[in-house]
Amino acid sequence: MKVTLILPLSIFALSTTFAFASNVTIESESVGDLKARTLVARQHAKALGGALKARLQEAIGQGGLVKGIEACKLEAGPIAKAISGNGWTVGRTALRVRNPANTPDAWEREQLIAFSNQLSAQFDGPLEASHYDSATGEFRYLKAIKTDEICTACHGQSVAPRVQAAIDDAYPEDEAMGFDIGTLRGAFTLTYTP
Ligand code: HEC
Repeated sequence: MKVTLILPLSIFALSTTFAFASNVTIESESVGDLKARTLVARQHAKALGGALKARLQEAIGQGGLVKGIEACKLEAGPIAKAISGNGWTVGRTALRVRNPANTPDAWEREQLIAFSNQLSAQFDGPLEASHYDSATGEFRYLKAIKTDEICTACHGQSVAPRVQAAIDDAYPEDEAMGFDIGTLRGAFTLTYTP
């Protein structure tokens, strides 16, 4: 399917599109184009992961895990929103969520189950998935998030009573406990809508 790109999709597309014109027609499902979008998606996922981890560590450093929960609750959404834009929506999801707003849709659920199975089978390649809809031009990307040691303080098998109480308070429907180190905690989920 042919589509007209008004704006460059990314810095990767920029050099190519600008070399010809500011408004070029390309095969939107061409391998190069999807590759460029995957690269941007990976960058956004990395940016979100880095920003969340930095904020979490800062909050824990200032006031311990309870402060960390407060920071996650108040700031995870706005941080994701700040990284979204230019057609991209960036967020997190999981099979078992703390915040119901992060509940996966059918496509995300299917990929999360596959990631979880791959991790159980000791697969050590990159755990990512993408989907392109040629009718709408929508591009989706999902990247697995593994459980690290620090995550188990708030998502693990045995969480300190004070931390548990703060989570119960803020997230009465929490399902995101009981994760072991190295297992799938969730995924970064990104959508590009033209
Ligand atoms: C200080 C406690 C705390 C720590 C430590 C923590 N989290 Fe969370 N996590 C939360 C809270 C609170 C939320 C809900 C945020 C929101 O409202 O969107 C959350 C949500 C998430 C989500 C979104 C899906 C969901 O369940 O709603 C993922 C994925 C996630 N955490 C992964 C991790 C990973 C990976 C680590 C370790 C690097 C980690 N968390 C460490 C408290 C924590």
